[in-house]
Amino acid sequence: MNNPVRNRRTDHVNDTVRSGMSRLENVMGDSMLKIRLMPSKVKIIFFLSAAVSLLFYMYLAHWLFQSDPEIHLESLLETDKCPACYGGSACSMFYYKQIEFSGMSKFRTFDVMNTKNVHYGTLKPDGRQVVVKKLASDSELKKMDERLCKDAKREPGCDIARVITRTDMALPLRDGPLVPEIMKKTGAFMFYCPSYRLIDRVSTYFKEYKKKDQTMGSDKMHVLYSALVNPEVLLLQAFPKSEGWPFPEYLGSCGRAVVVENAGRLLADFVDTSFHIRAGIAYELLKIAEKLTTKSDFVLYLTDVSYENFAVDSSGKVTVIDLENIIVVDKLAIQARKPKDWNEPHEGMFSECGGKNCLHIENDNLCTHLNSDHNYNAICRNLLSKYAVEDRMPQGFLHDMPVEAEDYWDLGNLLEECARPRQKEGRWKAKDKLLVALEALKDGRREHLDVLHDKEKKESKHVLEKEVIGD
Ligand SMILES: Nc1ncnc2c1ncn2[C@@H]1O[C@H](COP(=O)(O)OP(=O)(O)O)[C@@H](O)[C@H]1O
Ligand SMILES: [Mg+2]
Repeated sequence: MNNPVRNRRTDHVNDTVRSGMSRLENVMGDSMLKIRLMPSKVKIIFFLSAAVSLLFYMYLAHWLFQSDPEIHLESLLETDKCPACYGGSACSMFYYKQIEFSGMSKFRTFDVMNTKNVHYGTLKPDGRQVVVKKLASDSELKKMDERLCKDAKREPGCDIARVITRTDMALPLRDGPLVPEIMKKTGAFMFYCPSYRLIDRVSTYFKEYKKKDQTMGSDKMHVLYSALVNPEVLLLQAFPKSEGWPFPEYLGSCGRAVVVENAGRLLADFVDTSFHIRAGIAYELLKIAEKLTTKSDFVLYLTDVSYENFAVDSSGKVTVIDLENIIVVDKLAIQARKPKDWNEPHEGMFSECGGKNCLHIENDNLCTHLNSDHNYNAICRNLLSKYAVEDRMPQGFLHDMPVEAEDYWDLGNLLEECARPRQKEGRWKAKDKLLVALEALKDGRREHLDVLHDKEKKESKHVLEKEVIGD
């Protein structure tokens, strides 16, 4: 059937297109006429400048979107700066193109915007997801180079590859071994409480040796440089995932880049998931605190606890991804030295911080006590309890608890006691009870209903008895 309204609309559209086309033809005709009327010199200049700008834009597009990682690979790896770098075990992954960068990481041109210097990719042929990290921003790396030049009494911009061995800090390493005093001087959190045994462990697990069964000068420089810039690369090796430590697998280093397993999505992405999923993650987080505290005769204390420094993979496994600020304490060294009150359990203080997220860390107390509740404090204070206040985040990862979590499992009070204990050794007791509660809540167990049933049964029995007695 003929629809007059639709016909009128179609006519109107056709008219608009027709008039647009004729206007375009007029404009084109005018421009062509203008060009034709131009003097020939102006014409040449016009066509030349058009060609130059076309070439310029083509070059710009090529430069921006070139996807061949080799072209700017050197600016990522900076292998020319070695041994002022982390190592060389993963260089073949880059040079034989076994790492296929993804997203923005494909284009080295965008590196200037990637201030964190973190790139994502896939390892061929097995398709494993990996992260390539430089462990510092470009300005931090530059600052360290300048500090090292100065330490060697050279001008800024010196040839760092040659100069690192001549720095005051590295001079004792020419003939001598790595020792606690030198590692402490690097300022790395990892070596805040250094011990010979920790340095031994780093050396034993180090994967970047140039030659097997022989420590070369450049190996010591790699360890020193890593400690100076970011000891994460040393921690990943010394406390490997393969032995059950909750860190990403270390796959190797090349120059100033390290390759690690991609541990999944950030904890921050899970704050709005259902309560039982968050309960499961919270359980894992407390288990991580427990593992880092009790797994070995080295205690690893977390000091930078935030939603951006933990990742959760597709199977729900939680991993610590930022290891820069972990303090390692050698329990056997404390037992041997027996500093004052070494055997008294250390209880971390609560810090209000004016409603912001913060953590009070007593580094020196951690170095001198065999036991501390610091890791439980860090997880409860900065992630799980209502005190965990981060930008654009709800108050605490376990926000909006269901009734049974509050009433039956007493979760709110347990988190409060874990973050801000009222009784002596309250944090240890609270974390044990929290683990039991979270395990039940994550599995959606229904103990709380049994209690309600018992209560109901008791009540109906009571009514029945009353009725019988009343009769
Ligand atoms: N192993 C990893 N798996 C997944 N993402 C990672 C991994 N390492 C780093 N990232 C990502 O890079 C970001 C910065 O890394 P991080 O080590 O925390 O550096 P920074 O010291 O700059 O905070 C993290 O917040 C995370 O988004
Ligand atoms: Mg971080």
